[in-house]
Amino acid sequence: MTRFLANAAITIVAVTALAATPAAAVDIDFSAAALPGAGKVVMAVGEDGVLSGAAASADRQMGGALGRAVAAADFDGEAGSSLPLYGLAPYDAVLLVGVGKGLASGADVQDFGGTVAGQTAAWRGDVAVAVPDVEGLDDEAAHAALGARLGSYDFGKWGAAKTAGGGAKGADAAPKLIFHGPGEAAFAGDRRAIADGVAFARDLVSTPSNIKTPEWFAGQVESVFADVPRTSVRVLDVPEMQRLGMGALVGVGQGSARPPRLVAVRYDSPDYDGPPLAFVGKGITFDTGGISLKGGRGMWAMRGDMTGAATAMGAVMALANRGAAVDVIAVAALAENMPGGAAQRPGDVVTTMSGKTIEVLNTDAEGRLVLTDGVWWTQQTYDPRLVVSVATLTGAVISALGDDYAGVFTKDDDLAALFIDAGEVSGETLWRLPVHDNVFEDIKSDVADVKNVVEGGTPSASIGAAFIMSWAREDQPFVHLDIAGQDYTDTPRPTEPKGWTAFGVRLLDEVARRYETK
Ligand code: BES
Ligand code: MN
Ligand code: ZN
Repeated sequence: MTRFLANAAITIVAVTALAATPAAAVDIDFSAAALPGAGKVVMAVGEDGVLSGAAASADRQMGGALGRAVAAADFDGEAGSSLPLYGLAPYDAVLLVGVGKGLASGADVQDFGGTVAGQTAAWRGDVAVAVPDVEGLDDEAAHAALGARLGSYDFGKWGAAKTAGGGAKGADAAPKLIFHGPGEAAFAGDRRAIADGVAFARDLVSTPSNIKTPEWFAGQVESVFADVPRTSVRVLDVPEMQRLGMGALVGVGQGSARPPRLVAVRYDSPDYDGPPLAFVGKGITFDTGGISLKGGRGMWAMRGDMTGAATAMGAVMALANRGAAVDVIAVAALAENMPGGAAQRPGDVVTTMSGKTIEVLNTDAEGRLVLTDGVWWTQQTYDPRLVVSVATLTGAVISALGDDYAGVFTKDDDLAALFIDAGEVSGETLWRLPVHDNVFEDIKSDVADVKNVVEGGTPSASIGAAFIMSWAREDQPFVHLDIAGQDYTDTPRPTEPKGWTAFGVRLLDEVARRYETK
């Protein structure tokens, strides 16, 4: 399979398919044995530089040299910090990685693995990593390997020479991380699928919007899922969407020369026969704001406005590839929001597939528009057990929560609790924000059923949530995630290199685990 970045020529024809298993910048292996007594090794160090486990026994064998190095370097073992030591016999290289008060969860071990990959990226050959024990986990090494895969993700540079391994660095220029600890089978059967799902979603988001049209997105999904067992892909084009009455989705896309699409991926588990879970993602391949044009500064970042759609696709890929015991539908509501002679105007009224009408007061509140038809179609077509809308929906959620949490909105307290807990476990954390009954009153329009913005109205993120929620049926379990602050990171984190994060794949995977039948 060719990863499209392997093409040196940047022309649209050269861009074919994303690989189902994108090239990893790092090689991974496992071992159940103790750490070797030579070569390159990685060990954890606790708060105040306290040596325990593998580091303590190495220190004993080295006559206390490790402890002296830690003291001399004043290494305090803070979580995420690290100290490389070279030529300290009997090793060629030792990387000490701080784990603070200790690792407490799978997400913590993923961060540890990400830090290891980041700090050994310039090393070559075998690197033996002592994975610390975590109480209550039995697959620590699988989490560490997942973290290493996530942290070493590299989309590469357009036009740079690519080696056979794909990506910017190429496979032979990366170290091989050998994780010593339990979890080899859990990685192969489970966590590796998550790494691949995240990488696929990051590839989609990282692709610039001159290439990433709704049609291109649909084509990538079709070609990649052709190799994923028990999945099927459905693509709706404009005539079909018009026939179905999707006036809101078609309306957002009508100002662009590149027409909108709706893409649905269905994963059918052999071990489940209840109604599916549905993830409906906002897929604005570029958001200029439309006639309600955005300012120029920072507008480039709106190429990430299809992160919700990419996340939904990455999640269903992960679930299918790990053979999850639950059925899933992932839907991408795709359009490019452009100004132009055919664009919709502020004040236009559109009729959605449900029959409900919308006064489009601001064409820059387009995510909620495409999601009305996306959510309604998904509900009518699949009768899901749960509908989750995932969207880079509002700047307001960034003002409220920064990049520490994504916003979760639902009327159902149990679902809110389930999602928040899944956030903690997956490391993609959520904070609940309200959807007060008054907000549903505030979005009523004089000339249509609802209006897409309340001018000068607050709370803005809740208005967006309530708007989309108005298309969920009364009896439909429904959760909305506003991930606007999470789509991109400037400061690299252990499992998120600088760039597009594809936030939500790990979260949705963890949510799905709560519905699995085995
Ligand atoms: N895609 C934006 C939201 C966004 C902002 C995502 C910053 C990521 C970073 C969305 O379509 C938008 O323009 N929202 C408007 C809504 C407003 C017009 C009610 C906003 O938040 O300003
Ligand atoms: Mn917008
Ligand atoms: Zn947008």
